[in-house]
Amino acid sequence: MASRSGETSTTGPGGEALEQEQAAAVARRRNFAIISHPDAGKTTLTEKLLLYGGAIQQAGAVRARGEQRRVTSDWMELEKQRGISITSTVLQFDYGAHTINLLDTPGHQDFSEDTYRTLAAADNAVMLEDAAKGLEPQTRKLFEVCRLRRIPLFTFVNKMDRPGREPLALVDEIEQELGLLCWPVNWPIGSGDRFRGVIDRRRRQVILFQRGERGRQAQELKMTIEDPRLGELVEEDLLQQALEELELLDGAGADLTLEAIHQGDLTPVFFGSAMTDFGVHPFLKAFLDLALPPMARTSSAGRIDPLRSRFSGFVFKLQANMDPRHRDRVAFLRVCSGTFERDMVVHHARSGKAIRLSRPQKLFGQDRSVVDRAYPGDVIGLNNPGVFAIGDTLYQGRKVEYEGIPCFSPEIFSWLHNPNPSAFKGFRKGVNALREEGAVQILYDTDPGKRNPILAAVGQLQLEVVQHRLEHDYGVPTRLEPLGFTTARWVTGGWPALEAPGRLFNCKAVRDSWNRPVLLFKNSWNLQQLQGDHPELELAAVAPVVSGIEPIAL
Ligand code: G4P
Repeated sequence: MASRSGETSTTGPGGEALEQEQAAAVARRRNFAIISHPDAGKTTLTEKLLLYGGAIQQAGAVRARGEQRRVTSDWMELEKQRGISITSTVLQFDYGAHTINLLDTPGHQDFSEDTYRTLAAADNAVMLEDAAKGLEPQTRKLFEVCRLRRIPLFTFVNKMDRPGREPLALVDEIEQELGLLCWPVNWPIGSGDRFRGVIDRRRRQVILFQRGERGRQAQELKMTIEDPRLGELVEEDLLQQALEELELLDGAGADLTLEAIHQGDLTPVFFGSAMTDFGVHPFLKAFLDLALPPMARTSSAGRIDPLRSRFSGFVFKLQANMDPRHRDRVAFLRVCSGTFERDMVVHHARSGKAIRLSRPQKLFGQDRSVVDRAYPGDVIGLNNPGVFAIGDTLYQGRKVEYEGIPCFSPEIFSWLHNPNPSAFKGFRKGVNALREEGAVQILYDTDPGKRNPILAAVGQLQLEVVQHRLEHDYGVPTRLEPLGFTTARWVTGGWPALEAPGRLFNCKAVRDSWNRPVLLFKNSWNLQQLQGDHPELELAAVAPVVSGIEPIAL
């Protein structure tokens, strides 16, 4: 782990004990998010992990929680109507000597920017694949965000109990398409009806599985590859094939090193079946062994070590109306350094104000309890009376400001009309608040005569959320008019770079909320065409963070 920051502790008598407690808490923590395409089995895998951690007692609890949420929360009516979850939450549970923070991400195909932003708070990611499908679109997009941050990525190939693609082909696909080295930690023996278990490559050990009843933990039977009983338990042809493939991997593959994993160059790969609980346990144990604990993060004051004695953290997600009885707003904060304590007074880096954090919440799914203490790697929910925005830093001691969270490339664009001119004040207030909250990106036409904002979102659901909130929170019914574009790129060199090539075809230039030029394209073919015609025009799919400048308000 990196060295301590030079700051001295001001914790007074007992400070040393606190520091030791903090160091132990950091060493114990592992934080990750699961990236997957809908239906790959994220809910099922999460549930199995929670079962191992003793955080839930029975399978089905995760779904039951979802059902309950639909009944108790009006955030949103949409959830009920569409039967989906749109809120990212965090699940904390202990396993052995570790405390695990699992950052949950919305599972619906119409995911939103929240899913991307959650990855900004994650130290590790688990890429979950369906063995029959391999890489799927949503996984690819989320992988790109992981790559930007170069966070360690672990791969779990799920549904091995069903007929799937060849394991070697799945590994090859990841290497070729994602440019990521693979190191299978366990290798499957058979698949579908004939899935017998896995070979643990590091220990040269076979783990055979006996199906448990649905929802029960499966029995694991471990033995060495040389064990004579193996011949009776596993068909000769299956074992032979697995061993031959392993030999191939040993000859051709890269070496498994912590450095390569932690730099995001190599992904350890696991095979299993979340539903029948084959391979989840060995995966969890290896993950805890190989994953990164909370590490130093980049800030305006340099790298901030998690062991810095003073508290700091950043807001990565805002959520409104999670509890209809209170009409509240919650800011999710990732603790980066120090020990967070209830009722702490912290500085808000953007406004310079001092704020008492009096009602911090710990969240388990949608259940909340007041949190007294939290450590680096943890996520807490703060009551947000409109003070916090995405990317805000809170700190104690010397000023620290973490790198903000970038704007991710939107894929859906729509004019937002306010049909009632007398409601303009509410319309403006609502649009500005929702932009600040990060519910949606706001773009503007370059023609000053066209004053309506353009909503730009990663998922359709974001637009529905905005309309719903404008109507119910600000009393302004609105109308959307789709623009028909699907791709956005920021012009890296700003307006001068955009003007240099002269007239551009098959794209529309707009400005973002920081007056940066953005080009909108109807399809990726038009984008490629422009790049071919103007290779000098540098375009970016993710806009860098702007700091110190207030965005344009409507
Ligand atoms: P998601 O959160 O990624 O969207 O996926 P989820 O866990 O909801 O799983 C999607 C479907 O895939 C579910 O079936 C689930 O039971 C099934 N599934 C998950 N893991 C495995 C596995 O390892 N093997 C097999 N064979 N199936 C798996 P469903 O029919 O949609 O729901 P349910 O009725 O089973 O709950």
